[in-house]
Amino acid sequence: MLDVATPCTADELREEGFVDVGAAADVPRLEGRRATVDGRRVAVFRLPDRFAATDAACPHKGGPLSDGIVADDCVTCPLHNWRLNLRTGEVAGQDATMPIHHVVEQGGRLWVRLAGACDGHREPERAASRAAAPGPTPVRPAAPA
Ligand code: FES
Repeated sequence: MLDVATPCTADELREEGFVDVGAAADVPRLEGRRATVDGRRVAVFRLPDRFAATDAACPHKGGPLSDGIVADDCVTCPLHNWRLNLRTGEVAGQDATMPIHHVVEQGGRLWVRLAGACDGHREPERAASRAAAPGPTPVRPAAPA
């Protein structure tokens, strides 16, 4: 499995299902830009400490989320002010969620992989890796005093 926290090559990103959506410098701080990943329109945002991506159309009536106001890990739709959390995908006060896509910055480029798309890439290696990995260490409750 690709460890996106460490540097990796463009070929490795492609192999893991990421798509180059453009230069990171083209997304100003606290703004969004539209892109297309595997035929799906997405919006990519530059937050103070990272990039985030979700679908381009607001779940309310399809407003352009990439034109929304970005603050506090959220984007506010410019049409009717629905507020979407770019970390969780939750929409404040609504029974709606948005997918949060994976974003990696590599060599000044932004790479996006659609949420849920990772299982289709290199799954046999991942399954073998998971099977060989040691399980979590169980936490035992403290004995009563
Ligand atoms: S279309 Fe986004 S809040 Fe209505």
